Amino acid sequence: MADFDFDVLVIGAGPGGYVAAIRAAQLGLKTACAEGRDTLGGTCLNVGCIPSKAMLHASEYFDAAANGAMAKMGIKVEPELDLEAMHGQRRTAVKQLTGGIEMLFRKNKVEWLKGYAAFTGANSVTVGDRTVTAKNIVIATGSSVTPLPGVEVDQKVVVDSTGALELPKVPEHMVVIGGGVIGLELGSVWRRLGARVTCVEFLDQILPGMDGDVRKEANKIFKKQGIEFRLGTKVTGVSVDGGKASLTLEPAKGGDAETLEADCVLVSIGRRPNTDGLGLDKIGLELNQRRQIEIDHDFRTKVAGVWAIGDVVPGPMLAHKAEDEGIAVAENIAGLTGIVNHDIIPSVVYTMPEIAGVGLTEEQAKEGGAEIKVGKFPMLANSRAKTNHEPDGFVKVIADAKTDRVLGVWCIASVAGTMIAQAAQAMEFGATSEDIAYTCHAHPTHSEALKEAAMAVTGKPIHI
Ligand code: FAD
Ligand code: NAI
Repeated sequence: MADFDFDVLVIGAGPGGYVAAIRAAQLGLKTACAEGRDTLGGTCLNVGCIPSKAMLHASEYFDAAANGAMAKMGIKVEPELDLEAMHGQRRTAVKQLTGGIEMLFRKNKVEWLKGYAAFTGANSVTVGDRTVTAKNIVIATGSSVTPLPGVEVDQKVVVDSTGALELPKVPEHMVVIGGGVIGLELGSVWRRLGARVTCVEFLDQILPGMDGDVRKEANKIFKKQGIEFRLGTKVTGVSVDGGKASLTLEPAKGGDAETLEADCVLVSIGRRPNTDGLGLDKIGLELNQRRQIEIDHDFRTKVAGVWAIGDVVPGPMLAHKAEDEGIAVAENIAGLTGIVNHDIIPSVVYTMPEIAGVGLTEEQAKEGGAEIKVGKFPMLANSRAKTNHEPDGFVKVIADAKTDRVLGVWCIASVAGTMIAQAAQAMEFGATSEDIAYTCHAHPTHSEALKEAAMAVTGKPIHI
């Protein structure tokens, strides 16, 4: 048998790659991880989940102080924005967390190969001027921003999510292209800090892929918060002159063009897998139509010894999905049974209120031919949400009409991201709506709304 430098080489140190590397090392495999960025943690820790949540959290406090939510509770303040300090705390969070991964690599004896890796063969890559061999190679190269043809991102006037996290001043008018997760999260940040925000969305509704009721309600809530929406509209061009942008818009279904002026444009129309420059042609690994790497249930690609996980493979582009795949692929490489249940991956939009879901939407359940029962409970009738002045949103439980098994749960609530974990766990255990309804939930908590929504599946909630 050939000798290799490593048992496992992971390419990319995002939530998929760094977790895979650590788990492989924990399982006794000699492991290296190649990462081209200056810091570990990938998109998520450097320019994604973590810095966006730092800005969302801080801007939420500012908004609560500036827009009367605190005054409602008897706290009168006139906040002053120190944007540089807000950016400072974001940078500190990123630095601490990316540094933490470096420490975990040292602790677990994962060798960080600094530089971008490219295949020279199925078991060998170059990283800088070094050639490294490994018995198993895991591709975890993640994704990057999808460009909008004809629109040039200069990270000053026209920004992507990375630029939108770093704006040196609050724009007067920000136009967000794309009413998906990034557009709504980062649009919310700058709206809260004082910008007028217009969101242009190609489809007839925001948040594609989420439950229809949730999409409609979320749209209503964001409108109430002051975000303006241009639904069913596409941006066909952006020109920049003297620090101002002029956007050309057209109805998605065709019609007259119009222009919209802005001093900041955020392009957030999706992300695409990072597969260029990897030398996949050297190992005969082809991509699918969406330029993703296809894998089997065990995360094996078509090339023996080469595995792939995270944003670079089909499925939702989410950090926790990448992390779970990272653990599973390492366990499979070690000869154990690593499994990810892709039917139960929660997704959360970290706006205020948060929007979260797991499992099937009502539309998907019906399309799949299931006979379903739906229970809904408004947050307005939840004592904790009401006391906290958080009346917006609802919890919706979708169950199979015959077996009562829960097929999907959707929530809009201030703490929906935390509540959805309970729903995911219940679904992993094959819970019925009755199981949730008869589980004792602490009072007063937002989670009681989930219990009541489950009770509503059979028509028996107490508080409405
Ligand atoms: P990535 O995190 O993209 O990491 C891949 C790494 O591979 C990168 O560091 C890259 O430099 C490196 N790399 C690429 N090619 C090579 C090569 N040839 N050699 C060496 N290294 C290479 N998801 C959530 O679940 N929750 C959130 O709140 C959330 N917020 C987000 C906010 C924003 C603004 C963005 C942009 C994304 C957000 N996401 C969120 C998505 C999340 O960041 C991704 O799903 C996740 O990072 C994917 O992990 P990954 O390991 O597959 O890839
Ligand atoms: P997205 O796929 O969520 O939304 C993109 C939106 O842009 C869609 O609504 C789409 O219809 C619209 N669009 C596409 N082309 C358009 C055009 N020409 N004009 C107007 N609208 C157009 O993508 P987004 O927001 O860029 O996020 C990328 C990925 O990052 C997502 O897949 C998401 O999973 C991940 N992410 C996750 C977060 C979370 O979990 N909280 C936070 C941020 C990102």
